[in-house]
Amino acid sequence: MHEPLLLIPGLMCTAALFEPQVKAFSDDRQIIVADHTGADDMHSIACQVLAEAPDRFALAGLSMGVYLALEIMSAAPDRVARLALLDGKARPDTADQLAARHALLKMADEGRYLNITYDVLLSRLVAAGRSLEPELRDTIVQMATDTGVAVFRRQMAAIINRRSYLADLRNISCPTLVLTGQVDEITPPECAREMAEHIPHARLELISGCGHLSTLEAPHEVNAALRHWLHET
Ligand code: MLT
Repeated sequence: MHEPLLLIPGLMCTAALFEPQVKAFSDDRQIIVADHTGADDMHSIACQVLAEAPDRFALAGLSMGVYLALEIMSAAPDRVARLALLDGKARPDTADQLAARHALLKMADEGRYLNITYDVLLSRLVAAGRSLEPELRDTIVQMATDTGVAVFRRQMAAIINRRSYLADLRNISCPTLVLTGQVDEITPPECAREMAEHIPHARLELISGCGHLSTLEAPHEVNAALRHWLHET
């Protein structure tokens, strides 16, 4: 049996984000989708994830899951056999990005939690036009519904107050995959390039025509990249 694979979802996402990967890889290894809902700061969430994780594992996070994976790399690097950073960034937010986050929190305070998905995020989370695909759309809306407003507030607080992870990147020494959709609007390819350039053993993969939710948008390509990464020595 191979090392277990620990997957950490993004903001307002659940295990459904990784359904194609769980299907593809659970025959030959244990797969755990982390609970990233239990605190309102990145370090505490990372500690909660580590408390539930096996001794040593392959670690893949998507977006908010990348912030958490980088927290784990600084808290417990010896427990991570290999690292995959999907659709994320290590750099801090710009002032405009921070203001946009506070605007989303305000929508939640006004009782418009699901409008965050319908009116703001849906079209930005996936490549142009794909938010109209019923299956993709339903999955995204269902994940937001299942997450709920209380968890959204905690996750957003953790994202707003996170530190920059740029200085941590050079300390990562395990085999690392950095993967991003070529048309990811939320964490564009320049963020992936930046991480790959600063991590000593990183391989960069950009998926053409794919937006921010690569695991759902391009499962075939993402699974091929992950399969290669899982067997890298
Ligand atoms: C996510 O998908 O987890 C979030 O978009 C992350 C972020 O907003 O930085």
